[in-house]
Amino acid sequence: MVREATIALIRIAPEDVQLGMFIQGFDGSWLDHPFWRTRFVIETERDLLKVRESAVSAVIIDDALGSAAQLEPVTASPEASSWQPPARHAAPAWRPAPAVHTPQPQSFPAAYGRATRIFGKSRKAVSAMYSDVRLGKAIKAEKLVPLVDEITSSIDENPRAFISIAQLKTRHEYTYMHSVAVCALMINLARDLRFSDAAVRDAGMAGLLHDIGKALMPLELLDKPGKLTDEEFEVIKTHPMRGQELLKQSSGVSHNALEVCLRHHERFDGQGYPDGLSGDRLSLFARMGALCDVYDAVTSERAYKPAWSPTETVANMRDWAGHFDPEMFELFVKSVGIYPTGALVRLKSGRVAMVTGENPDDPTRPPLVSVPDALHPEAERLDPAVEEIVGMESAEALHLESWESKRAQMIKRFRS
Ligand SMILES: [Fe+2]
Ligand SMILES: [Fe+2]
Repeated sequence: MVREATIALIRIAPEDVQLGMFIQGFDGSWLDHPFWRTRFVIETERDLLKVRESAVSAVIIDDALGSAAQLEPVTASPEASSWQPPARHAAPAWRPAPAVHTPQPQSFPAAYGRATRIFGKSRKAVSAMYSDVRLGKAIKAEKLVPLVDEITSSIDENPRAFISIAQLKTRHEYTYMHSVAVCALMINLARDLRFSDAAVRDAGMAGLLHDIGKALMPLELLDKPGKLTDEEFEVIKTHPMRGQELLKQSSGVSHNALEVCLRHHERFDGQGYPDGLSGDRLSLFARMGALCDVYDAVTSERAYKPAWSPTETVANMRDWAGHFDPEMFELFVKSVGIYPTGALVRLKSGRVAMVTGENPDDPTRPPLVSVPDALHPEAERLDPAVEEIVGMESAEALHLESWESKRAQMIKRFRS
């Protein structure tokens, strides 16, 4: 059968895609498939599997360019000859993928205890991984799968518990625990995007490994309290590339994890590094990684800066026009909540309080409990409509001893 080039476009079901076919586009949102481009030949089993497992409703192939001569259209497409890729900012049409796990939500206090234990375990695993890399040992990523799965089950129990704990890391443990926080944020975002269980695991693993190149950077630069000089920054800017080289020599590392490692400092407007890729040239995973990475970095306390409050962070990130994929940014803000439960905040009245939950009507005014001080020795619930949060506080700066266990007790007592 001879077809004109303009009518060679055929719309077929994703499960009918074969090796060698030329993909012209996908029906559905860009978030429904994991490719950064929409026009390419399916050359590998991996890409074939990705198309078949994606949430797109149909795939548009060009049988003049690929080997689809034996196929007939599954459904007649009225716009087959004039088909264009979906508008970049079309409303997302996420659908649950077939293998989506059904979470078993648990009460916050119960989930918080388990999340604390898993966070402790992650601390050991990630610091061991960084030490191994510094000693020149290869990474066996498959060994980290049980940890990623535990973090996923914690997020499934209660998404806020693990993320809150991961956000409250101290500045001394930033290097390691930032990876765990990005892992948790990626898992949470992937669940909200209705990824399959396998893709959720992939996203978590990508988060855990994204900054592994930092293990190859000089420690004095990583821990430097002040601003880096231009020369020092040039050195630090090599960590995505060094990290990806390392991961390529390691076992159990997926294509998406390699991608997030290399691309998490790229910007949507092409102003990032290492290659200044922009927009659709950045994969879905790379765009997710960039968001989760920056959010955790700015909401964390660092050697050279205090933690930014989540409201301040979200407002600033929204202002950094062009840095992030705007559609994904709004989804991310919803997925992450605003103030992490357990966070210490300074109130306009001068008192210090702890956040005990969320306020869906106004995320900037979460429920609060006062932290006892000399004037007010008893913890008490405060009225979030009256109290105004003016900044974040850290237990270290306030010299609160054994704060982690006190925080857990206060959450148990005050969170219903
Ligand atoms: Fe990084
Ligand atoms: Fe990072």
